[in-house]
Amino acid sequence: MKSRVVVVVLVSLCLVNCSSSIKLGETCGSENKCDGGLHCATCPANGNTRSRCTRTQPTIPTSKVKGLAFNRYSWLTTHNSFAQSGIKSDTGSFIIASTTQEDTIVQQLNNGVRGLMLDMYDFKNDIWLCHSFGGNCYDVTSFKPAINVLKDIQSFMEANPTEIVTIFIEDYVTSPQGLTKVFNASGLRKYWFPVSRMPKNGEDWPTVDDMVHQNQRLVVFTSKSSKEDSEGIANQWKYVVENQYGDDGMKGGSCPNRGESSTMNTKSKSLVLMNYFLTSANASSACADNSTPLVNMLKTCHNASSGRWPNFIAVDFYQRSDGGGAPEAVDVANGHLTCGCDNISYCRPNATYGTCDVPPISPPPPAVAPPTIVEEASHQPVQEEFHVDTPLKLVKFLWTLMHNMSSQNQD
Ligand SMILES: *[C@@H]1O[C@H](CO)[C@@H](O)[C@H](O)[C@H]1NC(C)=O
Ligand SMILES: *[C@@H]1O[C@H](CO)[C@@H](O)[C@H](O)[C@H]1NC(C)=O
Ligand SMILES: *[C@@H]1O[C@H](CO)[C@@H](O)[C@H](O)[C@H]1NC(C)=O
Ligand SMILES: *[C@@H]1O[C@H](CO)[C@@H](O)[C@H](O)[C@H]1NC(C)=O
Ligand SMILES: *[C@@H]1O[C@H](CO)[C@@H](O)[C@H](O)[C@H]1NC(C)=O
Ligand SMILES: *[C@@H]1O[C@H](CO)[C@@H](O)[C@H](O)[C@H]1NC(C)=O
Repeated sequence: MKSRVVVVVLVSLCLVNCSSSIKLGETCGSENKCDGGLHCATCPANGNTRSRCTRTQPTIPTSKVKGLAFNRYSWLTTHNSFAQSGIKSDTGSFIIASTTQEDTIVQQLNNGVRGLMLDMYDFKNDIWLCHSFGGNCYDVTSFKPAINVLKDIQSFMEANPTEIVTIFIEDYVTSPQGLTKVFNASGLRKYWFPVSRMPKNGEDWPTVDDMVHQNQRLVVFTSKSSKEDSEGIANQWKYVVENQYGDDGMKGGSCPNRGESSTMNTKSKSLVLMNYFLTSANASSACADNSTPLVNMLKTCHNASSGRWPNFIAVDFYQRSDGGGAPEAVDVANGHLTCGCDNISYCRPNATYGTCDVPPISPPPPAVAPPTIVEEASHQPVQEEFHVDTPLKLVKFLWTLMHNMSSQNQD
């Protein structure tokens, strides 16, 4: 009887204490679930074969350092946000176009993605999110009508009245007022940040508080310069410098501008966008690319951009990394941008710029999984009874306990 009471108490203690305590970098599995904002992953592409908790969410910078100009923050941005793996086209067709993300745009927004890159085409008398062959959208390369995704963004903005979202349109739409019509129909027009308020000569943007207060929380750029005059949609190349995308943008140590953009050091454009993804999207290598090389390129692009940290960090498969990944790169950029620290988590509330709380760093656990982990555990004497932090250990602990008790009873 007594032992049963002990067991019940221990089990209930563990249900409270043992769940949701697996942190960034710790070993995880089906029994050891990662904390919120993390998921359990390996990265064989760079030798990290041990399943460990990796980040899927950046710190929302405005929750940590408030009220700065919009261009004093960095935002996690998904390249071809709509090109989700494993889905069918809304035409009903299977898709043969390459995919670059693994969750919906709603899930991306909920994870803290705030920049969306959307390719828009005329298709089926509507505007579609699509890839193309020879400039045309086909059933097998199309994903969704733009209106569906824009309505999802509208719902997010309505539910999150202090969040700011930026859309970069790779614009193939030629139908008259095509983009205006679809934005009007989505209900997003009421959040529109007007072109007239965008700084034209490298000045600071309005503050995020001002944008929220005026409800001008949707920033939209088009790649087609004519649409600024014809439809009032900002011509991206007037406001943003952007580095080369694809393989040529991933050569360590250099951060050249893409053809359409001014050079990275052009300070008359107030915003800096950094691309870091392969020409041919590769889900297996993304975890390696989104790790140390991404942060290295962040520093390279910071140098190339006259000491400006990127405001948008655009990647494929944003959830993939061997640890901190793209969310951490965004945190690093935000640390420098908002408070002058190496990481936004080091910013001290209301402190002067450059005052940082840097925690002592403990050496990271090894990346490679020890091959004998199961064997080792079963040979270990049961001295870990006060570390019952996993269900497996709990079972072992209880087993020994009951065994001990029954042998004591026999004595
Ligand atoms: C879009 O909405 C704006 C503001 O509500 C309106 O002035 C404009 O005529 C609309 N344009 C189109 C093409 O629907
Ligand atoms: C994708 O990346 C993996 C891991 O780096 C590599 O082995 C594979 O060859 C790549 N696939 C293509 C098609 O490049
Ligand atoms: C940035 O520039 C400084 C000074 O020119 C140089 O010392 C440093 O190595 C550069 N860093 C990177 C990552 O290119
Ligand atoms: C930034 O802070 C986070 C949260 O404390 C930490 O996990 C990460 O290792 C830090 N990254 C760097 C580059 O300092
Ligand atoms: C920081 O300043 C704001 C505004 O003055 C204030 O409301 C807040 O309590 C301060 N926070 C801390 C931790 O001092
Ligand atoms: C079981 O008994 C052994 C030997 O007396 C002791 O070392 C161990 O701590 C006990 N384990 C538990 C869970 O009570």
